[in-house]
Parts: sequence; structure tokens; C-alpha cells
Amino acid sequence: MLVTGLMIPRPTPVTAHRPSRIWCMRCENGFIDNGQQHWDDRYSKRTPAAPRAPEILAINPEMTPLVPTSGRALDIACGRGAQAVWLASRGLNVVAIDVSGVAVALTNAAARASDVADLVDARQQNLEDGLPGDLQDFDIIVCQRFRNRRILEVLSRRLRSGGVAFVTVLSTVGLDRSPGRFHASSGELVEFLTSADTEIVWDLEANGIASIVIRRT
Ligand SMILES: C[S@@+](CC[C@H](N)C(=O)[O-])C[C@H]1O[C@@H](n2cnc3c(N)ncnc32)[C@H](O)[C@@H]1O
Repeated sequence: MLVTGLMIPRPTPVTAHRPSRIWCMRCENGFIDNGQQHWDDRYSKRTPAAPRAPEILAINPEMTPLVPTSGRALDIACGRGAQAVWLASRGLNVVAIDVSGVAVALTNAAARASDVADLVDARQQNLEDGLPGDLQDFDIIVCQRFRNRRILEVLSRRLRSGGVAFVTVLSTVGLDRSPGRFHASSGELVEFLTSADTEIVWDLEANGIASIVIRRT
């Protein structure tokens, strides 16, 4: 029997008093409140990372020579600094940015442990609104497991001519469960990251991950 006219109270919207909403790739529903606190809490239980190449190189080690051995690097949402320290260990001057102060402290500790502290400039900064304008002229940019459309759309213009970017995000392609709202749709990285003066070196969408390597011509 169909019952009509029932008054079901609506739940109070949980977004009413959110100070900020920041995306968490490993959170089931995408956004979490107060992202800095969330990531600070997560990283407070961790130790400094060992240097590690961008994950694209783990599946394509033959692309390692694309990574320069001098010049300027940018690691966006650097986490514990594994990639930032790896880049510095290759001889690059690295700017590493993360919203979490604990992540920045871990990145600095990792840089000291690898004897490259003088090459790593780790900064605590919220990149929700995009990349600050002074971050320009990089020989390589790594953006791994942090998806922000404003950043991806300007990324290639922050490279020097000949500079390369390695980007990895979650993807709807090949996902074995329902996507969260922050999984990249098919073709998104190519769309956001290519422009008249950009060439795609390599890209792959599979198993819920999208990755791309671009070069600014
Ligand atoms: C999944 S982790 C990836 C860390 C690192 N890139 C890696 O591959 O291991 C996402 C990172 O994004 C950072 N993050 C989240 N929101 C951010 C924001 N609005 N601005 C800057 N960093 C942010 C987090 O603190 C965290 O370190």
C-alpha cells in the first residue's frame, strides 16, 4: 500500500558550518573538512619518507632520463617528501608544497636525512585556489595523487620550454567500484594539460589511475 503525506524531517545539511573543504584522494567520499587538520593528523603517525621516484617511473623506468639533473623542480602536494627528496638527490633545486605543516616538517627531515636540505624549499601552503603566481619556470613539475582543476589547467605554463610534468590522479577508468566525485573522468588529464605549446610524452588511464607525462615545447 502506498502511504502518502508522511512528513520525513530533512537532516540538517552537514555543509552548513564547514570552514573549508579539501579533497582527500584516499577518503571514500572525496572531500573532508579542515583538510590541513586531517592531513596533519594522518602524518603525525608517520616518519620521514625515503626518497622515491614519481610513481610513473616505477612502471616506466626507461623514462627516468626525462628527469633533469639540474635546474628547478616543483612538487605539488608533496606529502612526506619522497619525490621532492628524490628530485633533490638528482641535483635539482626543489620547491615542495603541502597544506599540512606536519608533511612539510617530514619533508624537511627527509631532506636532511638524505643530505639535500640545501636543495629543498618545503612550504606549507593551501593550494585549493590554485598555484601562486610566483611559481614559474620549472624544469620539472610532479603532481602526484592531488587533483585540482585550477592547478592542472595552468601546469604546462609553469614549465620552462623543454620542461616536463609528471601527473598522477585517481580516475574513473578501469575502476572496480563506484567513483567518488573527485575521480578524473576519461580524457581529463589530456584535456587539462595540453595546449598549443605542449606535447604529450606518455599517458595511461587504467585500473582507477590516470597518469600523464607532458613536455612544454
Ligand atoms: C594522497 S596525498 C599525496 C602525497 C604525495 N604527493 C604522494 O604521492 O605520496 C595528498 C596530499 O595532498 C595534500 N593536500 C591536500 N589538500 C591540499 C591543499 N589544498 N593544498 C596543498 N596540499 C594539499 C595533503 O596534505 C597530502 O599530502
